Amino acid sequence: MSVLVVGATGATGRLLVEQLLDQGETVKIIVRSTRSLPEQLINHDRLTIEEASLLEMTDEELEAQVHGCHAVASCLGHNLSLRGIFGHPRRLVTDSVKRLCKAIGKDAPAMPVKFVLMNTTGNRNKQEGEQVTLKHKIVVSMLRHLLPPHADNEDAAAFLQSHYAASDNIIEWAAVRPDGLIDEKAITPYDVFVSPIRDPIFDSGKTSRINVAGFMAKLIVDDEVWRKWRGKMPVIYNA
Ligand SMILES: NC(=O)c1ccc[n+]([C@@H]2O[C@H](COP(=O)([O-])OP(=O)(O)OC[C@H]3O[C@@H](n4cnc5c(N)ncnc54)[C@H](OP(=O)(O)O)[C@@H]3O)[C@@H](O)[C@H]2O)c1
Repeated sequence: MSVLVVGATGATGRLLVEQLLDQGETVKIIVRSTRSLPEQLINHDRLTIEEASLLEMTDEELEAQVHGCHAVASCLGHNLSLRGIFGHPRRLVTDSVKRLCKAIGKDAPAMPVKFVLMNTTGNRNKQEGEQVTLKHKIVVSMLRHLLPPHADNEDAAAFLQSHYAASDNIIEWAAVRPDGLIDEKAITPYDVFVSPIRDPIFDSGKTSRINVAGFMAKLIVDDEVWRKWRGKMPVIYNA
């Protein structure tokens, strides 16, 4: 299976790439720079690296990247700096998802391509009727206006949800929602739910990035897991 991963230099994206390679998959990544990647990853014989800024690539270049891919995974996120949060591109995740989906559509794959988006429990899935308290609503509405990355994460998932049915002919998708991210060295037991079981702002839980990567890899390689979660926004917490 061939998988394109974007956001592969990130704390979660890198773990996803490693897990896919460990499971025998062929992986392509688009990264702005390889500087932060370990040598053994850069030299891996099943890894292809395109050094480019995703949103500056032409449609044709993106089409070439998605060509032949069975799955595309995004672990993109705004860097936690003033420039990353308030500078351009403000819609990094949404615009990347849209452009990758457009490229997949142009490529007209014989089988639907799996699109796995790393998202956040801060994003409500209204189609599941997820309710929140008034104080949560007030805080999220402030975040939406004050912090561009939050609205970007919401819009990216909304784009997939509104454009592609759970069993679309071209793109099937899942938006994985971790709670507060932490770093651990190995995969540990985790639980996956259709909707959050705790308030992500006032009672947030923990999700280790390696578990997020493990679950995203499972969605990609395990068709039974995929059939269960496609068209959904699974919420993942460390057990
Ligand atoms: N923090 C939390 O508790 C939490 C909880 C739930 C969900 N999330 C979400 O999880 C996602 C990923 O988290 P993470 O910690 O793994 O992310 P991260 O380590 O910050 O990685 C972000 C990735 O996005 C890339 N990126 C940033 N700006 C870019 C640009 N302008 N063009 C191209 N690539 C760009 C980075 O590439 P470079 O290396 O080139 O900068 C990096 O590969 C984010 O969307 C975040 O909102 C976070």
